[in-house]
Order: sequence, then structure tokens, then C-alpha cells
Amino acid sequence: MQPNKTLPGCYNSRRVLQCCKSSVVCVKLIFQTQQKCIAIFALLCCFTVLVVLIFSSVDIWGDDEDGITEENCSRDCSIVLVENIPDNLILPMDGKPHLPLSVGFHTLLDKAKHSVEVVSPVWALNPWDLETTPSNAKQGQLLFQRLLSLKSRGVKLKIASSLTNSAELKTLAAHNAEVDFVNMTALTRGGLHSSFWIVDRRHIYIGSADMDWRSLSKRKELGVVVYNCSCLALDLHRVFSFYRQLHERDYIPSIWSKRVTALYGRHDALELQLNASEAAAYVSTSPELFCAKDRTRDVDAIYEVIQSAKTFIFISVTDYLPLLIRSFRGTSVTRYIKAIFPGALKLRHCFM
Ligand SMILES: *[C@@H]1O[C@H](CO)[C@@H](O)[C@H](O)[C@H]1NC(C)=O
Ligand SMILES: *[C@@H]1O[C@H](CO)[C@@H](O)[C@H](O)[C@H]1NC(C)=O
Ligand SMILES: *[C@@H]1O[C@H](CO)[C@@H](O)[C@H](O)[C@H]1NC(C)=O
Ligand SMILES: *[C@@H]1O[C@H](CO)[C@@H](O)[C@H](O)[C@H]1NC(C)=O
Repeated sequence: MQPNKTLPGCYNSRRVLQCCKSSVVCVKLIFQTQQKCIAIFALLCCFTVLVVLIFSSVDIWGDDEDGITEENCSRDCSIVLVENIPDNLILPMDGKPHLPLSVGFHTLLDKAKHSVEVVSPVWALNPWDLETTPSNAKQGQLLFQRLLSLKSRGVKLKIASSLTNSAELKTLAAHNAEVDFVNMTALTRGGLHSSFWIVDRRHIYIGSADMDWRSLSKRKELGVVVYNCSCLALDLHRVFSFYRQLHERDYIPSIWSKRVTALYGRHDALELQLNASEAAAYVSTSPELFCAKDRTRDVDAIYEVIQSAKTFIFISVTDYLPLLIRSFRGTSVTRYIKAIFPGALKLRHCFM
């Protein structure tokens, strides 16, 4: 304890000023300081809780999950490959063709009773220049009209997108669609490139196609529609919830609601029946920043597929960057394939 220069008879200890002229004064000063401390501590606690609430993503109200839980969701699923072959491309047909993509989308919309949730990097189902794009834009326009008409059937349309100025999203929002904007510029300096649908938390679509009329006419697209598969739909819905919770934020919360934690992953995949065959599945995402608790990263899922292959791996991609751009030649996936199967990489191109 050091004597206080301005207050004779007082001493500075580590935390309190003690003026021990009489023991009563001394006790009182310490007591007051303690009260202040308790008040400040309580305030600090309140503040911390507030900060945690603001900076986290605890959804108090939550999204109702249609009464389906992990315990009673359906694992008896059927899968259909959907494909768009460009109008002017005639492919040699070995076997029967897959279901056209547009038919897949319309079937999903036919089945919708409560909700249709869509993530797409592009919204351009209606071509701007109607004169130069005549007949082949019809499928896109038709799909857009059907999305608009969901409202009249009492089906909710929910969309997550990183587009700031999309006329189509504005039109959909004006027709009761819930559109959540994810500011990818602020979050990752990238874009929201996922493409999937969830219908009634029961049926899903995942594939290469965007909500773009060209995906239904001019482009080669491939995807899967999985019906009666609420277990997988629940997990994909958690990815959707993750995007929705980023709505209007410019940072990634450090604490996440349990409703976005992954249900299945690389180490505990969902065991299900796909067209009566035993199968395992999980949903992976990227970038890593977007992987909520227990969510497998895309790159780890790819490694796992490569590692588990016994005879062959067929890969179909839009851009195979290692081949096209010199600086990408050493990307980890290519190095990985080459290391496991030296000389096994065969490439077939399809230039369009
Ligand atoms: C699943 O379980 C939840 C709660 O345990 C229940 O509310 C719901 O009705 C069940 N759904 C089905 C389809 O059995
Ligand atoms: C799975 O079954 C559905 C009918 O239930 C069928 O349309 C589809 O083609 C089947 N999928 C595969 C990959 O065979
Ligand atoms: C997205 O975030 C960036 C960077 O924080 C900001 O400049 C921009 O205004 C935001 N965009 C919107 C539409 O809020
Ligand atoms: C989905 O399940 C329902 C009954 O639960 C059945 O009627 C329907 O045919 C199934 N759909 C598909 C595509 O398997």
C-alpha cells in the first residue's frame, strides 16, 4: 500500500483507495467500491450476452420444419437423373435418354404443397432481348410463370441469392416470394454459386443448371432430382438456412444456431435407399467459412470419393482449369488424382 499524495491519511492499494482514519470509513469505502464492481460486472455480463446474441445467429423463432425430424424422416428415396441437351446438339444415344431438366422442375412444382426453396447464382429465366431469342427461351419463361403462380396455390417460395439488382428477383418478391440477400462481396469477395431446390423438405434438386433460360435450352446441364427423401432434404435445408441467416450481414457469425449444424457428413453419412439400392449420402459445402458445425468441406468430399474408388471415376465438369490454364496445373485435386493413380487420368473434351 502506498500513501495517497492528495488525500492525507489515505492509501492506494491495488484496486481500492483506503482512507483508514477510522475502521468504519475504511470499510465503507471498500464496500462502496465492491458495490460499484458488482454493478459494473452485471452491466458487462448483460453487454456480453447482447454482443453474443447480435454477433451470433441464434434464431429464437426458428423455421418450422414441417413436423419432420431426423428421427422420423424418410430414407426410402427415388432418384432421377435430369439433363438438358442443347437444342442444336445431336448426341449418339447409347441407351435411353435421361429426363429433360425442364420436366424435372415441373414435376417438382407439381408436387409442391407448402414450400419451394431455391438457390441459384443467376436469375434470368426471361431473355431481355425477345427479338433475337425466339422459341428456345420458352421453357425459361414458362418456369418463371409457374414460380409466380405458386402464390395462388398457397405454396411459399423462398430464395437466397447474392444478386443485388435482379429484376426477376424483384418481380418474384413482389409476388410474395421471400428473397434473402447474401452479401458475398462483404463475406468472401466471391459469389453464391450453389444451385439447388428443396420442395416441402421432401424432394430436392441439385445440379449444374442455373435459373437461366439458357440452362433449359442452349446449355448442357446435368443434375439429380431425389423424391421422398426428407432426411437428405432436411440436411440440404440446413445449408439453405445457413444462407438465409447471412441475410443482410457483412460478417460470418462466430456462434451458430443448432438448426444449421450438419446432420450428416463424411464420417457419418446418411444411409438410405435410392431406388431400392443401398446408398450413403451427405451434403458438403464450400468455402470453409461457410461450413457450419460438422459440415464436410467440398474438397474433402471429393478426396473421399477419389479414395474410395476401386475401378474408375468418371468426372464431368464445366471447366477443367488444370488443363486450360497453366497456373492451375498444380491444383490439389489434379495432384491428388495423379498421386493415387499415376498415368490413369484420361480426358475427353466436349467443345461447344
Ligand atoms: C415426427 O416427429 C415429430 C416430433 O417428434 C412430430 O411432431 C411429427 O408429427 C412426426 N412426423 C411424422 C411425419 O411422423
Ligand atoms: C428410379 O426410379 C424412378 C421411378 O420410381 C425412375 O423414374 C428412375 O429412372 C429410377 N432411377 C434410376 C437411376 O434408375
Ligand atoms: C455488400 O458489402 C459491401 C462491403 O461491405 C458494401 O460495400 C455493399 O454496399 C454491400 N452491398 C449491399 C447491397 O448491401
Ligand atoms: C413417394 O411416396 C409416396 C407415398 O409416401 C408415393 O405415393 C409416391 O409414389 C412416392 N414417389 C416417388 C417418386 O417415389
